[in-house]
Amino acid sequence: MAVLRGLDALPEPPTRPGNGHLQDWALSPLALIEAGALAARRSGGDVFRLRLGLPAVVGASPAWNRRLLTDPGTFVSAGSFSRVVPYLAGGVILTDAPGHAPRRQLMNPGFGRAHLAALEARTRAALPAVPDGEFDALAWADHAVLRLLNAAYFGGEFDPGLLHAFLAPLRRPFPVPAWPRPLLFLRVDAELRRLGHARLTAGGDDLLAVLAPLPGGLVEARVSLAAAHDTTTHALAYALWHVAREPQWHVPEHHPAVLREVLRLYPPGWMGSRRLARDVTWNGVRVPRGALALYSPYLSGRDPALWDAPLDFRPQRWADRPPPWAYLPFGGGERVCLGMHLAQMLIHGVLGALPPLRAVRGDPAPLPGLTLGPRGPLVVRRA
Ligand code: HEM
Repeated sequence: MAVLRGLDALPEPPTRPGNGHLQDWALSPLALIEAGALAARRSGGDVFRLRLGLPAVVGASPAWNRRLLTDPGTFVSAGSFSRVVPYLAGGVILTDAPGHAPRRQLMNPGFGRAHLAALEARTRAALPAVPDGEFDALAWADHAVLRLLNAAYFGGEFDPGLLHAFLAPLRRPFPVPAWPRPLLFLRVDAELRRLGHARLTAGGDDLLAVLAPLPGGLVEARVSLAAAHDTTTHALAYALWHVAREPQWHVPEHHPAVLREVLRLYPPGWMGSRRLARDVTWNGVRVPRGALALYSPYLSGRDPALWDAPLDFRPQRWADRPPPWAYLPFGGGERVCLGMHLAQMLIHGVLGALPPLRAVRGDPAPLPGLTLGPRGPLVVRRA
């Protein structure tokens, strides 16, 4: 029988004396995981180790992605990174097997294509005007997505100032999103109760009307709004930037490929985390119970073994299907993003309504925070 090796057998990016990878994880996590992926490739394997205070294993191969995302009893969310961020620490995001799948079955229909189609006219009407002169696509997307989510969730009735105050800290660098904000959350919960009560008594066809009758439904509304806002904002901002830079792609039949390519190169959910509920053996290495197990849509989307010219923006590559489990901007398996169809509907709605644009100047370099987005600003103007 083959002898199992311990975590020390795994390749790792260079460490710093005294703190392992913690400093690089805090200051330049993309460079750190790219160095790790390179070390893994050079060793002939598909995972690498990080020393983050806890043992952590990161992988980006389709096989690793598939294993992590299809075994929710072993790769659990309790104790993962989401727990650290009060915005995300609740509802379905922190519910694990066996309760997770039935919970999602209750929520999925409201976020499915058929129900969303009924919301489309309303979200289209909520889209803010495109400014006449030069404008920052990132700031505009931020504002637009706030209005679109208010329309989709609450028929536009949520106090806009409070919604902005609630969501704005998510786009700030760490540790700002991790700070507890009990008073702000109380105000948001009171507004959710007010509107939820109105849905329960008078009905409605927005997302709150779907969530309010569920046990814990108002918490689901708060948590999913937090998961929705900067992910959708960042994807939209990148899409605007790319159609402004390469206007030949700014036609409705190419918008789906533009969005896919944006999400391949700049997946807002750049790193997904789980904890191991039991020991796992991976290619002869024993990864102990309690370890962090990470998958990275960012690394998978840029892996030269999986994509031709991975760093080039080439929407035409989407004429072919990607390899299975290589393209995961919305995760996969049972925990696949609840808002996948909502985000796509909103972004396609905006792209379809936008006039021709031109890029003026900007810094699209990816900046990893709670979600990954452009360093910005991304200044564009009407063509
Ligand atoms: C382009 C926009 C979006 C991207 C790239 C994105 C990405 C992701 C990813 C990668 C995951 C899986 C995380 C994991 O495996 O740990 C996820 C989960 C989730 N997303 Fe999204 N998301 C987006 C928009 C939204 C929207 C609009 C909503 C609003 C409903 C939303 C709500 C959620 C929720 C609630 C989960 C947790 C699902 C569960 O654990 O069962 N997301 N998202």
